Amino acid sequence: MKYFKTNSKVLCIQNEAIEKAFQSLLSDSNLIEFQNIEESDDIYYFTIQPKGDFRRSFLLDSIGLMNADKEDISLLYQQEAGDIQNNIDPDFLSLIKAQRVMSINLSHPNWKDCLGNNPLPASKPIHLNIVGLGDVGGTLLTGLKLTGGNHISTIGIYDKDENKMLRYEQEMEQIHFDGLSMPKVIRLDENDIFDCDVLAFTVATFIPPVGSEIKDVRMAQLEQNSKILKIYAKKAREAKFKGLFAILSDPVDQLCRVAYEQSNTDDSGTKDYLGLASDQIKGYGLGVMHARAVYHAKRNPALASYLEEGRAYGPHGKGLIIANSIDNYDEDLSEQLTQLALHSNLDVRATGFKPYIAPALSSGCLSLLATIRGDWHYSSVFINGKFLGCKNRLTKSGVQIEALALPEKLINKLAVTFSDL
Ligand SMILES: NC(=O)c1ccc[n+]([C@@H]2O[C@H](COP(=O)([O-])OP(=O)(O)OC[C@H]3O[C@@H](n4cnc5c(N)ncnc54)[C@H](O)[C@@H]3O)[C@@H](O)[C@H]2O)c1
Repeated sequence: MKYFKTNSKVLCIQNEAIEKAFQSLLSDSNLIEFQNIEESDDIYYFTIQPKGDFRRSFLLDSIGLMNADKEDISLLYQQEAGDIQNNIDPDFLSLIKAQRVMSINLSHPNWKDCLGNNPLPASKPIHLNIVGLGDVGGTLLTGLKLTGGNHISTIGIYDKDENKMLRYEQEMEQIHFDGLSMPKVIRLDENDIFDCDVLAFTVATFIPPVGSEIKDVRMAQLEQNSKILKIYAKKAREAKFKGLFAILSDPVDQLCRVAYEQSNTDDSGTKDYLGLASDQIKGYGLGVMHARAVYHAKRNPALASYLEEGRAYGPHGKGLIIANSIDNYDEDLSEQLTQLALHSNLDVRATGFKPYIAPALSSGCLSLLATIRGDWHYSSVFINGKFLGCKNRLTKSGVQIEALALPEKLINKLAVTFSDL
């Protein structure tokens, strides 16, 4: 491994082809010894993999991920290191083990944007904008106003309904307690919505009313919400948006894919990958399914294993997987928990109300704040052109997907969920 350093950035290059191809970039940097890498340096490992299906960047936390020839649901379970183990430079291995290395795929045209961004800027607090001030957007806003003071300086708000903006700006700015710091809420002009570090998308056009016969309220919205999201995804491309595009609208995972594909396609229909990169889009829907599983596990001792040992995966509707325990996986208990979590939505609807408070706060507010802090949380991340909900965190060196030793039966379920996305 060769180490080149420029402005506190260490570029680790193993492959001569990469060294040759990026000679001009490296000409500004100095070849250094491993011992000269400092604690404060940012460290990057470069690969060249096909764009589109492979992530632009991620935290390289396992040698099994180095130069992988595929990315699929195996990212969720521990990678086989294979022969690489024997060939790996022990110095570089120590950097991987310390979780200091961001892997960057040089075939993405905007790969340089990853240097110093994860894609949030290193300096905090950040600016966050919310587009869509309906029930979910308004509750998310209230939650972030109350709890986001340490991490968010301003929350910009936009809705096509001007009165909603006027209402929420006044209501939010009239929340005050002497000595308590809270983000400032400001109304946005449509042209300024990408002037932020995180854009939370909570727009919807049609939500089946309470009492309607439609069972899958999420998928019923795909066509209409896709149309609006396409417009915003194109705007993100035009604005050369570098921050995080967080999608809460339904169906979350499918809409993440729409955003990825649309923003990376030019006017002639050619994919040029000049829009939102894989690491810039995340879907926020699984947080509430985990919260619902916890709710039921707390009420039934037979399901209590979930509280300490369980995991949630997949979309927050059909395809959801609640695993009662990773170490003692039980298909029946897991299926019970999955069905209970899935029906929680309908249980609230049966009371005559649309369920949006727990989703906006568990999937949205608390999970977004965890993302900003760099903490583990549930959200959907890019895997092989799709977005799958799983436990992950956004480290300084990129997204880290939690990889566990999963039982085979659970892996098989994940494969079905993933292929149906
Ligand atoms: N992620 C989750 O966990 C979760 C949970 C529940 C609901 N949801 C989803 O969140 C979405 C929003 O739900 P809601 O209950 O707030 O809906 P809502 O109908 O109350 O609000 C939608 C808002 O979008 C605005 N809007 C519509 N078109 C717009 C446009 N082009 N630009 C800007 N704003 C526009 C509307 O004016 C409205 O204020 C839905 O898709 C819903 O299914 C997600």
